[in-house]
Amino acid sequence: MKNTSIKKFIEGIPKAELHLHIEGTFEPELMFKIANRNNIVINYESIDELKKAYNFNNLQEFLDIYYAGANVLMEEQDFYDLTWAYLTKVNAQNLAHTEIFFDPQTHTDRGVPFDTVIQGIHNALEDGNEKLGISSQLIMCFLRHLDEASSFKTLEQALPYKKWIAAVGLDSSENGNPLSKFERVFFKAKEEGFLTVAHAGEEGPAEYIWEAINLLNVSRIDHGNRSLDDDQLMKHLAEHQVPLTLCPLSNLELKVVNDLKDYPLLGMMERGLMVTLNSDDPAYFGGYINENYTGVAKALNLSKKQITELAKNSFKASLLSQVEKDKMIQKIENYYHNN
Ligand code: ADE
Ligand code: ZN
Repeated sequence: MKNTSIKKFIEGIPKAELHLHIEGTFEPELMFKIANRNNIVINYESIDELKKAYNFNNLQEFLDIYYAGANVLMEEQDFYDLTWAYLTKVNAQNLAHTEIFFDPQTHTDRGVPFDTVIQGIHNALEDGNEKLGISSQLIMCFLRHLDEASSFKTLEQALPYKKWIAAVGLDSSENGNPLSKFERVFFKAKEEGFLTVAHAGEEGPAEYIWEAINLLNVSRIDHGNRSLDDDQLMKHLAEHQVPLTLCPLSNLELKVVNDLKDYPLLGMMERGLMVTLNSDDPAYFGGYINENYTGVAKALNLSKKQITELAKNSFKASLLSQVEKDKMIQKIENYYHNN
């Protein structure tokens, strides 16, 4: 093993990202450019003024700004440019595979056709595969602050694009929106052949994580920080190796944790949980995948071995085939031994 610094080690290790909202990669520079070309006025005078507004006390304060930003996306090209910008960014960070959330209702409720949204994102993902060698899957999220009828309508709109969408998910305001509201639409989505994931236990209680498992039959929990409050749940997650997609910088910026030094990662790893690191909404939270790894590595003094385990987990918990997982895990092993 060489004397590579932890930062360099993180930068070079092959990784997958499993929790990333494409609307959350909308950098202010691109936002102003697209707003201009669509003749839409942004409520902020300048890029700097917009960036100053990125100061959140909780999830809802962030979501209000995030949805306002997404309002300038109108054309297929806009969704293409947004997705392509993310892919080029993470290509420079040695991201090999990404599983991307998109929120169709944020756009269809403004009159943007479902086809416009998915076509733009899908075309960029195809180019990402061909030109950058980044493989990807698409996950369609229902917004939990909206009603069940709207989620059923969205599922209906997605059916012609089934081959482009691997799973359905659930995001947006957690408190006051129990997952039980979406039990029936998730059941229908499963019948249609989609896998399921859900945000749970970010701000909401451990009980919501149980609901994600028991009512929505999820393959992964997005966030899941609050699982620590429930010992039985911790046991269940470890025994069944239910992956958690943790997002350290997001949790810091949305005050889910006060300091990365208190991040629950090591406790979860010691208890045998299948944890992964992800960026959530990198344009809003000050860092892409590598900054999330380096942030916790520094705060928790992680070893190369622990970082290697996290990178392996990112593939183990992905929706890739076993053959593809094994190939990437071998690559990571080799990297560990040579760095
Ligand atoms: N939508 C985008 N980011 C989110 C998050 N961290 N939690 C819930 N919904 C979101
Ligand atoms: Zn999220």
